[in-house]
Amino acid sequence: MAEIRLMRDDLLPPKAPPRRHLISIAGLTRDDVERLLATARSFERALEREVKKLPTLRGRLVLNLFFESSTRTSSSFELAAKRLSADTMSFKASGSSVEKGESLKDTAITLGAYDPDVIVIRHAHIGAPALVAGWTSAHVVNAGDGKHQHPTQALLDLYTLSAEFGKIDGLHVAIVGDVLHSRVARSNIQALALMGARVTLVGPPALIPRGIEALGCETTTEIGAIEAADVVYVLRMQRERMLEGANYVPSLREYTARWGVTPDRLRPGQKVMHPGPMNRGVEIDPLVADAADALIETQVRAGLVTRMAVLYDLLTHGPVAVQAAAMHEVA
Ligand code: CP
Repeated sequence: MAEIRLMRDDLLPPKAPPRRHLISIAGLTRDDVERLLATARSFERALEREVKKLPTLRGRLVLNLFFESSTRTSSSFELAAKRLSADTMSFKASGSSVEKGESLKDTAITLGAYDPDVIVIRHAHIGAPALVAGWTSAHVVNAGDGKHQHPTQALLDLYTLSAEFGKIDGLHVAIVGDVLHSRVARSNIQALALMGARVTLVGPPALIPRGIEALGCETTTEIGAIEAADVVYVLRMQRERMLEGANYVPSLREYTARWGVTPDRLRPGQKVMHPGPMNRGVEIDPLVADAADALIETQVRAGLVTRMAVLYDLLTHGPVAVQAAAMHEVA
């Protein structure tokens, strides 16, 4: 009889499956995105009913950790968890022990002691969500880390495009403005390229990072290029991330004159998107923001069902498509 030799690993209990996180669009496959969008569509149908609450995540705890300001992302994650019957706990750095010098690690470990199933985190520093994923046993969702990634924004934008056009493959999206400081731009370029859309970045030379084409886009400084796009996606000038004293554009007035999205620069029927918050009169003319072709409110509504889909997917699917923390992207 052949001798059965046990290796050391055979004597160990089976390894727990790796936890799944949503840190970056770079860790998603096309199948992942299609599954999430299909789940979001089914939630949209469920929310048309009179009773909008689903029992799906009853007994689960979703912890929202916001170290940076937010209106859309924080409110939609909170409501998404509530619509799925999960308990929620919302933490804002302002007014917390962060103001007494508590570190991100100590805050994460302290709130992790309540055993959250999911931690949604927004932080000014690139890589903060990936660090939290290493310090707690929860699934972690990146709700925006510095200028790195905002994956749920990109997913809700894909959802919006898919609902409006019936497809994403083959669409041409022009992203206009401050790409340099934009996590929304990075996530959207990757997400749109993954789903077969063409992306053109338009903006001042100092606000288009060198090498960004590697993410799957083309670049130009000519605002006239937006005319050829199906969708014009407008970005805010992110003054809070700009280095003091740096002159990215001669002045905001000059920026608006050369790159502002105004009615005369658009074709009739061309769709306009903006992740919010908007600076009306700077990057976007109020007449454009309020026009029937603007999908800005539709994006906000899409945020709710898309974030419901992300929470549901993380907590109910098997350990597939584990997200690596993609830290080596174009900065
Ligand atoms: N688009 C977005 O992230 O908006 P908030 O900053 O309001 O969450």
